[in-house]
Amino acid sequence: MSVILAIESSCDETSVAICNNGKITANVIANQTIHENYGGVIPELASRVHQQNIVPVIQQALTDAKVSKKELSAVAFTRGPGLLGSLLVGVSFAKSFALALDLPLIAVNHMHAHILAHFIDDPKPAFPFLCLTVSGGHTQIVLIRSYFDMEIVGETLDDAAGEAFDKTAKILNLPYPGGPLIDKHAKEGNPLAFKFPEPQIKDLNYSFSGLKTAILYFIRAQEKENPDFIAGNLNDICASVQHSIVDILLNKLKKAAQQYGIKEIAIAGGVSANSGLRHALQKMAGQQGWNVYIPAFQYCTDNAAMIAIAGYHKYLNGDFVGQDVAPLSRMEF
Ligand code: KG4
Ligand code: ZN
Repeated sequence: MSVILAIESSCDETSVAICNNGKITANVIANQTIHENYGGVIPELASRVHQQNIVPVIQQALTDAKVSKKELSAVAFTRGPGLLGSLLVGVSFAKSFALALDLPLIAVNHMHAHILAHFIDDPKPAFPFLCLTVSGGHTQIVLIRSYFDMEIVGETLDDAAGEAFDKTAKILNLPYPGGPLIDKHAKEGNPLAFKFPEPQIKDLNYSFSGLKTAILYFIRAQEKENPDFIAGNLNDICASVQHSIVDILLNKLKKAAQQYGIKEIAIAGGVSANSGLRHALQKMAGQQGWNVYIPAFQYCTDNAAMIAIAGYHKYLNGDFVGQDVAPLSRMEF
């Protein structure tokens, strides 16, 4: 029997979840809207809002799961990677909470947790599988041999896919985070209206900074001819940018699947909520004979349920940390 309380605070979501014997019974997420007008997360503001949110979010999770603090078996938390000030709030709270209740502590790598979110609900991928983890800070192709044996086989050399969405949104004067808005406008647009170059990067790695620059120069050039270019073509621009990003992501994923001879394929992270990516992956699965695993929307972007399920498997494995544990803005995979 185990009841694990998990805390996620690596970026701008304060989230607490409860995992009761491997089942998620609460997953409370407090989003921060304060960053909308800045084009990105302001670290100092994020950590202050985490401090305001953490206690009410903990209380709500315990209420939702109908458990008392006395029934908890362990406290899991995101140790990194992420914004140091944001992580510090979750890690400090987890440590004092565990100390006060005399509970063991479980440190979770945020990027592992995005992948392990696939073990919350059925169907679950079979080992070994490949996961394309695409978020605001990371773009990785990961080979997963077991819950604890994961290897990055390809990753971005510069910007993450989420950044490509968010930076494009900024160029288009859309608020942060722009990914979901580009997705929304793309649904009404023509993905072949404008063409952007596909970067030629070796092996299974990615690069998105060139695409961002190409988009910026394209928009500037068009605006010289027509100052209302963005407003008049927003849906087509969004659909074309999304199409380019999805193509880049899936071409390398296909290469990885062929190279490793694996047909169990998953996606994870905030960008896995993108409808264009989800559709294109399904289509590719049909062509390639893959079994694909696409997370439920609530487990794509940052959430503590994924920390809780990762924590649960670490709990079963007896993998605990001491009170001297510190957050890591960069964390070894
Ligand atoms: O995993 P996540 O919540 O946080 C990080 O760990 O970074 O990912 C956030 C990223 C942001 O860049 C956001 O724009 C992107 O995920 N995102 C999307 C969509 N929903 C979230 N990008 C494209 N389409 C979406 N529907
Ligand atoms: Zn994340």
